[in-house]
Amino acid sequence: MRSHPTDGLRFGVIGCSAFGARSMLPVIRDNPATVLTAVASRYRARAEEFAARFGGDAVAGYRNLLARDDVEAVYIALPNALHHEMALAALDRRKHVLAEKPLTTRPEDTAELIRAAATHGLVLRENYGFEHHGQHERVRALVREGHIGRLRHVESSFCYPSVPRDDVRYRPDLGGGALLDVGVYPVRAMQYFLGDDLTVAGAVLRCDPALGVDVAGSFVVHAADGVIATGSFGLEHGFGSRYRLWGSSGQLVVERAFTPPPGHAPTLRIESQNRVEELTLPAEHQLSAGVSAFAAAVGAARAHGRDPGHEQWAGTAAGTAALVARIREVAVRI
Ligand SMILES: NC(=O)c1ccc[n+]([C@@H]2O[C@H](COP(=O)([O-])OP(=O)(O)OC[C@H]3O[C@@H](n4cnc5c(N)ncnc54)[C@H](OP(=O)(O)O)[C@@H]3O)[C@@H](O)[C@H]2O)c1
Repeated sequence: MRSHPTDGLRFGVIGCSAFGARSMLPVIRDNPATVLTAVASRYRARAEEFAARFGGDAVAGYRNLLARDDVEAVYIALPNALHHEMALAALDRRKHVLAEKPLTTRPEDTAELIRAAATHGLVLRENYGFEHHGQHERVRALVREGHIGRLRHVESSFCYPSVPRDDVRYRPDLGGGALLDVGVYPVRAMQYFLGDDLTVAGAVLRCDPALGVDVAGSFVVHAADGVIATGSFGLEHGFGSRYRLWGSSGQLVVERAFTPPPGHAPTLRIESQNRVEELTLPAEHQLSAGVSAFAAAVGAARAHGRDPGHEQWAGTAAGTAALVARIREVAVRI
């Protein structure tokens, strides 16, 4: 074993993923609140390649990483259908878990993880970076302050162009499909603005029979107070990642809402009858903010013997899983 800095939450990474290499491993390595202690792959050579690039010890086999006492938390970056089993194994080994989105592919699996985390007083979170970007809190404040009148409708979408045919997103057995990959973002955005008590009114999924997964879709939900929300997603479109909050006297539009790069200074557009106002906010590194929030949650859990943020987070996570399952259930497939 190599020697590592000892301050900060000691992270083990499970799966040498493309997204991890592009974004999360540098974040965990560079965040002062965390230490990249070990990196596990199914293949030793791949673990060694990642360890050489990002630091930490190379570990062959995910469960060998879970067996290490010097790993306090894990970041799970596996294909969607494998998150549940590995997160459960990590919680059983008393590791805090930051799992990639979506946390699982079935509401009952999400419920099982939530129960296990609560039982052991561990922190469990899923990596929706946008929830840690201050621009959305600013949007909530603008709505509260009445800048668009009464909120009537939320529109949200996340789409991007096709990926190579062997990508995990096109593997039904690994939890592929556009709904689980990007459709979850509009779902989560609706929960962010309207709360978790949402009802699915209808949905459509465009399925590719050769691939065996959905590649695009749309859905409609409504909140108890009558606000309606529509979401669209796809893996065969020009890139777009946005939402529009439509009020009784104006609209508020956020472009590049879900995955803005760290250097991007967001612009919020407030449109009313006769004028358009643009508000430019400072750039933020949302993934780094998410890792800091996770480390802070672990600190709080240690201090209290339980995760004080668990209930609120778990309510939202269970809500997302239920909404996604319901969208699948009611969807017209084309
Ligand atoms: N939060 C975000 O903004 C964001 C962005 C992109 C992706 N993601 C999420 O990150 C996760 C990984 O996505 P990715 O695009 O990075 O995928 P990826 O490059 O294919 O990585 C998945 C990793 O899982 C491991 N794995 C284990 N069993 C596998 C199997 N049967 N087939 C393929 N890989 C297997 C592999 O690691 P080893 O070979 O090292 O074992 C592989 O590198 C997904 O859950 C995705 O939704 C999140």
